[in-house]
Amino acid sequence: MMASAKAPLVQIAPSILSADFAALGRDIAAAERGGADLIHVDVMDGHFVPNITIGPAVVRAIKRIATRPLDVHLMIEEPDRYMDDFVAAGASMVSVHVEAVPHLHRSVAHIKKLGAKAGVVINPATPAALLEDIAHDVDYVLVMSVNPGFGGQSFIPNTLPKLKRVRALLTAAGSSALIEVDGGVALENVADIVAAGANILVAGQAIFGMSDPEAATRALRGAANRTTGG
Ligand code: DX5
Ligand code: ZN
Repeated sequence: MMASAKAPLVQIAPSILSADFAALGRDIAAAERGGADLIHVDVMDGHFVPNITIGPAVVRAIKRIATRPLDVHLMIEEPDRYMDDFVAAGASMVSVHVEAVPHLHRSVAHIKKLGAKAGVVINPATPAALLEDIAHDVDYVLVMSVNPGFGGQSFIPNTLPKLKRVRALLTAAGSSALIEVDGGVALENVADIVAAGANILVAGQAIFGMSDPEAATRALRGAANRTTGG
């Protein structure tokens, strides 16, 4: 039998929210040497979440030096107004919160029309069931495992059973969307998160909060791969 029972390798997406903003090029290069698959960019507006981070100009600058696709997580009000700018700046993946848009299907369709992968994000208290009628249209689902706004928070344990519900929902919908997990991901919980069905692991503090981000990225990769048998 030639088919492999192995699940696909899990992707690691370092979040630059915890990087040194005065040395983003250096920090991104380190994460890439450690095996980063994506670069996760957290966009916050001080309204949807109580913090302000970066906009399209910084994404454009990162795009010049990054060798991995940019995974842009929009934590902003009225994200529809800015999707074109972020894709033009170099985003390969753009995700919007279900809590932030009134016409989710339209937002997802627009991201795809721009040529980027479209993701939908749910906050910790947002039921997985809200994904049911968009499951077939999205490229990935981002399950928040902390309340968005800040790096370095603790993983909310209810995320694990929730991930299983999201995986079941996607399977039932015949969707091949990937599941991304964001918040409090660390070496200690990677195995449980991957076992619950995650495909993409975002990590900020667990990478850039370490003295050696390259080694930290490699360690997370190793832990994830061991779980998938890869
Ligand atoms: C939180 C952000 C996350 C954050 C994760 O609102 O969406 O991407 O950077 O940081 P850690 O991995 O430190 O929890
Ligand atoms: Zn994020």
